[in-house]
Order: sequence, then C-alpha cells, then structure tokens
Amino acid sequence: MSNCSKIILIGFMGTGKSSVAEALSEALQLPNVDVDKEIVTLDGRSIPDIFVQDGEDGFRTIETKVLKQLLSLPYPAIIATGGGAVLKSENRELMLASGLVIQLSASPDVIISRVSNDRGRPLLQGDVAERVHTLMQTRASAYDFAHQTIDTSDQSISQIVNDIAKAWHHAIQDRLEREI
Ligand code: S3P
Repeated sequence: MSNCSKIILIGFMGTGKSSVAEALSEALQLPNVDVDKEIVTLDGRSIPDIFVQDGEDGFRTIETKVLKQLLSLPYPAIIATGGGAVLKSENRELMLASGLVIQLSASPDVIISRVSNDRGRPLLQGDVAERVHTLMQTRASAYDFAHQTIDTSDQSISQIVNDIAKAWHHAIQDRLEREI
C-alpha cells in the first residue's frame, strides 16, 4: 500500500458499508465521507433521479468524479463507496493508491433481507432476490482487489470495527517501518 491515509470500504449493496463507516468513524475519530451522499449533495439530484435522467453510465461518470475528489482530501478519512464504484479499473487503481481497501461481504440471503423494500437503489427494483443473485454473479470477483475482506453476515458492527481498526493499525505500522 503506497498510502494509508484513507480507509476505503467497498462491497455489494447491503453489506453494511454505511453503518460500519459510521461506527468506524466514532471508534477511530476520523471523518466519514459517503460517496453516494456526496454525489447527491454536489449534483443536487437523488440517485434514482440520476439513473432515470442520465442512465447508469451517466451515474458512473459522476461517481468517478466524486470518488476522485474524496480520495484526494488532504487528511485521513473513512470513505464508504457505492456497490458499483469498483466496476471501473480507473476507480480500483485510485482506491488502491489512496489507502487501505476493505471489502465487506455478506451472503445473498442476508443481503436480500437487508435491501428488500428499498426504493433508493435503482439496480434492485423489481424482483429483488433475482436482481441480487444476478448482480452478485456478474460482479463475482469485482471486489477481490481489496486488501482485506470481512464477512458481515453474522458479525456485530463492533467486531467488524475491531477487525478494520487492527488492519488500519498494521497498515500504519508497516508504512512507518518502511519509512525508517
Ligand atoms: C450501486 C450501489 C448503490 C448506489 C447505486 C448503485 C451499485 O450504493 O451507488 O444505487 O451499482 O451497486 P450502495 O452500495 O451504498 O447501496
């Protein structure tokens, strides 16, 4: 890892990125920035509206622009990304160059129970179970570039936060040792 100033959470929708980011922010006393929330603030439209008006490609263009801005913030921070932010190689390279990349994962059943009845995720409208299974297959190895993967299906948020905090401290230690 060339730079460990950011903790970047990646993972499929419903794997717990936003909740974990909030708890991690408390635990490590680092600011928490959420790429999707930042997109809505900067663009002025909701994510479903962007998908309807600009299509998925339009959304991905805005997502990359905002991701770049957040990854270049001049201070350490926790960055929670949207589930599809990993799809562009440009984004993956940028994340790896900007900090510690943690993948949160969960079983399809857990994801389906967490995201069902959700109107805010354009890619999961219709038959949610079918959409989750299909997208998970399409993205089967899309998150594998992460430095570490944590399955959130059966773990408490505090256990997950502890694991990430340990990985973060190791990353800082490694970096310090390389700089000495
Ligand atoms: C998406 C995930 C969403 C949001 C958008 C597209 C995806 O974020 O960015 O609806 O392609 O997986 P969450 O992972 O926070 O739900």
